[in-house]
Amino acid sequence: SADIRDDLVEVLFTEAQIQERIGEMAAEISRDYEGKDLVIVGVLRGAVMVMADLSRALHRHVEMDWMAVSSYGSGTKSSGVVRILKDLDADISGRHVLIVDEIIDTGLTLSWLTSNLSSRGPASVEIATLLRKPEALQMPIEAKYVGWDIPNEFVVGYGLDYRERYRNLRDIGTLAPSVYS
Ligand code: PRP
Ligand code: MG
Repeated sequence: SADIRDDLVEVLFTEAQIQERIGEMAAEISRDYEGKDLVIVGVLRGAVMVMADLSRALHRHVEMDWMAVSSYGSGTKSSGVVRILKDLDADISGRHVLIVDEIIDTGLTLSWLTSNLSSRGPASVEIATLLRKPEALQMPIEAKYVGWDIPNEFVVGYGLDYRERYRNLRDIGTLAPSVYS
């Protein structure tokens, strides 16, 4: 179809539900970091949408920075090895850091990123993720702010892609089987 919304077989979270939940997460974050210098770090590329919406829901000063990471070579994510494609511009030493991503799947990305950023002497490092798949977790990882736990299903939209498509869907959902064939 010409309209990518028609490729969803099920909508898990609508645009309105996502915005409401992000508002709640932002309120919690605002309370927790009141009076503190805060840097939010978006994990390219999936976190672009949640960074844009969460940052604007904060209604306070916040520095926005970005990292891009990748699994090594052709190795699968479960190899546990990550390399930095784009590092922070900011020096986070002595500052409060909140890593923002749209999903924790195996947990490898954020587990590695948390320990990497923690080694730079920040005042604190926490994680905010819109989605988490508890059944898929392979790494111990503590996310302080979680939008929703979801079943271990492949989801797209709101930053989440299938072969670099569907990131620009406003809703989050599952793809019709016909899309894969
Ligand atoms: C996806 C997603 C998370 C990560 C979660 O990013 O955006 O960052 O995987 O998976 P994990 O918990 O198993 O590490 P991906 O590396 O596919 O790149 P992208 O953000 O550019 O889509
Ligand atoms: Mg990502």
